Amino acid sequence: MLSFTRKPQSAAVAFLVIGAFWFLTGTVYGLFSAIHLASPEFFSNIPWLVFGRSRPVHVNTMVFGFVANMLIGCALYYVPALLRTRLWSERLGWVSLALWNLTVLSGPATFSEGITQGREYAEYIWVFDIALTVAVLLLILNLIMTIAERRENTLYVSIWYAVGALLWTAGTYPIGNVIWHPGTGALSGLLDSVFLWFYGHNLVGLLLTPLAIGAAYFVIPRVTRTPLFSHTLSLVGFWTLVALYSHIGGHHILQAPIPNWLKTVSVVDSMAMIVPVATVLVNLWVTARGKGGSLWADPAGRFVIAGTIWYLIVCTQGPIQSLPSVQKVTHFSNWVVGHAHIAVLGFSGFIALGGLWHILPLASGRRVYSGKLVNLQFGLVLFGLIGFFLVLSTAGLVQGEAWRNGELVYRVLPQIAIYMVLRAALGAFIFSAAAIGLYNVIMTLRRGERFTPEPLEEGPS
Ligand code: HEM
Ligand code: HEM
Repeated sequence: MLSFTRKPQSAAVAFLVIGAFWFLTGTVYGLFSAIHLASPEFFSNIPWLVFGRSRPVHVNTMVFGFVANMLIGCALYYVPALLRTRLWSERLGWVSLALWNLTVLSGPATFSEGITQGREYAEYIWVFDIALTVAVLLLILNLIMTIAERRENTLYVSIWYAVGALLWTAGTYPIGNVIWHPGTGALSGLLDSVFLWFYGHNLVGLLLTPLAIGAAYFVIPRVTRTPLFSHTLSLVGFWTLVALYSHIGGHHILQAPIPNWLKTVSVVDSMAMIVPVATVLVNLWVTARGKGGSLWADPAGRFVIAGTIWYLIVCTQGPIQSLPSVQKVTHFSNWVVGHAHIAVLGFSGFIALGGLWHILPLASGRRVYSGKLVNLQFGLVLFGLIGFFLVLSTAGLVQGEAWRNGELVYRVLPQIAIYMVLRAALGAFIFSAAAIGLYNVIMTLRRGERFTPEPLEEGPS
């Protein structure tokens, strides 16, 4: 029974496919949320579609369902491949997949009914927090055992990032979701926001970021057929990421009365993030130097290199908006929503999509059904996202400036109405891209030309 769960790389493929499915589902909920903001009366009689319910479904489905699933799928392929062995247990991989996605599914099922822990990024209720934590622990076990049984001595940097991401999440997720308080999933008072944003920040910083960097470190050297520029630099980037990123969540609550030392540390180390960001980008771009043409010509490479450019933009904007003087204008406004989209979709989402199109053929033994559709998907997401960034940043500045001048929140709404309509319209491009992507994934697995992938020589280097 369920013999397909024993097939080599089947768990990796399953994570990739389900990620493509959640990408589409998440955009539908994004559109519901956007329509509600553009036209608040639209869904007024449909409780499960109102903004307060569709928004958390959208956000969690994107973070845990789309980006994390796809990047974990990539890791389940590249870790064994780089170690020239097989995944320790394919079946355990499937169990992790089931538990992880049960949690993702609980989003539309429970939030739509108003059942939620009500803390941003920590909305899943207790029982599903446990399911997700167990999934992470099983993934760690699986990867550690794979490493123990390896036939390649060198632990290429992607492996460090993949295992690091899961280890850190096994710590930050239960802490941020306060799992020792099953009833509320929360602490009381101000301390709760410190715990929440320690975790909320690390969800993107110590889960999505290292998984995305790990995938980029795998794909770029392979597509350009060039050894990685520097292994030393890659480890400097790894250790400075955990040293600096882990404790800067305070920059989300600078306006709250948290201790001043915590604010100072979070702002100073937000600036210092230039070190891990620059080392990764220099390393990847120097590796790709002179091979830009071949990266761009490769549909998967195109996504990954664009993802690294978004990373530069996100991590230039991020430290600037950590400054209290800047946040006086930007905080609470659509500016932050713009940052969130270029970060989660532009940086980690683009690299997840690049990883999908590079690794799906290697793991399934079927060539991508249509490279043209991948390029079309790229164009649609890029257009939609650039539009989001411009529209949301402008709307944010309009809001922030008006509020600073003492204007009331509701009186600014007419001024940003046009931006809300534009965002909903731009969302249609991203929705189409997700639909085309899912179609291409399904057709790749059903109709893609069969081939035997070459084994990796010495890792991608
Ligand atoms: C140098 C790196 C970065 C810094 C310093 C930074 C800084 C910040 C700051 C200060 C905020 C809060 C702004 C406010 O509320 O006023 C924020 C929000 C956010 N950031 Fe970043 N960021 C960085 C990179 C990233 C990356 C790589 C990701 C995703 C992979 C990301 C995802 C987000 C998200 C989703 C939010 C919105 C949080 C919310 O719901 O309020 N950021 N960032
Ligand atoms: C059809 C495309 C999309 C539409 C229409 C859309 C719309 C929205 C809306 C309306 C919100 C709530 C903003 C608010 O609270 O004011 C939101 C938040 C968010 N979306 Fe999307 N979105 C789309 C695609 C995506 C994708 C592809 C991702 C990630 C891969 C994503 C990640 C997020 C995140 C992380 C937030 C939280 C932002 C924050 O709290 O600052 N969205 N989106």
